[in-house]
Amino acid sequence: MSTYGSFPGTRPRRLRSTPVMRRMVAETRLHPADFILPAFVREGVGEPVPITAMPGVVQHTRDTLKKAAADAVEAGISGIMLFGVPEEEKKDAVGTAGTDPDGILQVALRDVRAEVGDELLVMSDLCLDEFTDHGHCGVLDAQGRVDNDATLERYAEMAQVQADAGAHVVGPSGMMDGQIGVIRDALDQIGREDVAVLAYTVKYASAFYGPFREAVGSSLQGDRKTYQQDSGNARDAMRELALDLEEGADMVMVKPAGPYLDVLAKVADAVDVPVAAYQISGEYSMIEAAAEKGWIDRDRAILETLTGIKRAGARNILTYWATEVARTLR
Ligand code: PBG
Repeated sequence: MSTYGSFPGTRPRRLRSTPVMRRMVAETRLHPADFILPAFVREGVGEPVPITAMPGVVQHTRDTLKKAAADAVEAGISGIMLFGVPEEEKKDAVGTAGTDPDGILQVALRDVRAEVGDELLVMSDLCLDEFTDHGHCGVLDAQGRVDNDATLERYAEMAQVQADAGAHVVGPSGMMDGQIGVIRDALDQIGREDVAVLAYTVKYASAFYGPFREAVGSSLQGDRKTYQQDSGNARDAMRELALDLEEGADMVMVKPAGPYLDVLAKVADAVDVPVAAYQISGEYSMIEAAAEKGWIDRDRAILETLTGIKRAGARNILTYWATEVARTLR
């Protein structure tokens, strides 16, 4: 007995005593195979274009994209998620460039597939916002509202064109009702039962997409609140989840990741399909900006956020740091 009462009989600190001890008892480990790299490719540029709001991330040329894909293979990550940035004059009201077999995204899918074969999963963002002049994820009706069912027709076509161009996985991110079912049917109809659907199942209308707008050169008019979810709603997430599974989603995603870890945990508990989380542009930029100012330890902060996302239940994480982090883990 000390002067102050009894000493603790149980001492959790024992298991934190050395690096090897901490490593042995770690509940959550990051592995290169956890990661998927989102990457932007811009049409008609000779040099990669830095994205000001995302220091360290660029809009790739076709050549530098191939190099990034080869680096991703080398680092041992699992996938690359491609976003196309068309020439400004190719944008129109219905996002024609998104279904043009020679559109930038399709060209990039073919390039990357030729480069990596099956060594890396080649994934494509399946959405119209990069290709429409109004910046919405779908086509608009006469009143200027996003027309759900007319958009589904466009998504079906996009899925087929992306599959033809070599996508192993398509990632519908537009939050239209019924999109997973329509895309699954469209793929099956052309005999592409092999192409998997990674559904952006839970996608909140988030301020943290801000830097992405620059990344894809989008000038969105208005906001996405009529199709993306309200940040306070978690039950709504479970409803979207049930629908996507029923419609045939192979994998489901929660996005953004950091501000929605509770939702991610609920989704992961509820399903038996793989769950992914997307650490989005704003989550990336906040850490890079604070680190640039010397306010936080960049590398530790990155690992901490990724560990948190995995601990919450993500099997896979889309992050702009995918290749870098995988290299440090090897
Ligand atoms: C839609 C899409 C967006 C992102 C991925 N797919 C933008 C949006 O929904 O507003 C955001 C990714 C990020 O911010 O890193 N095509």
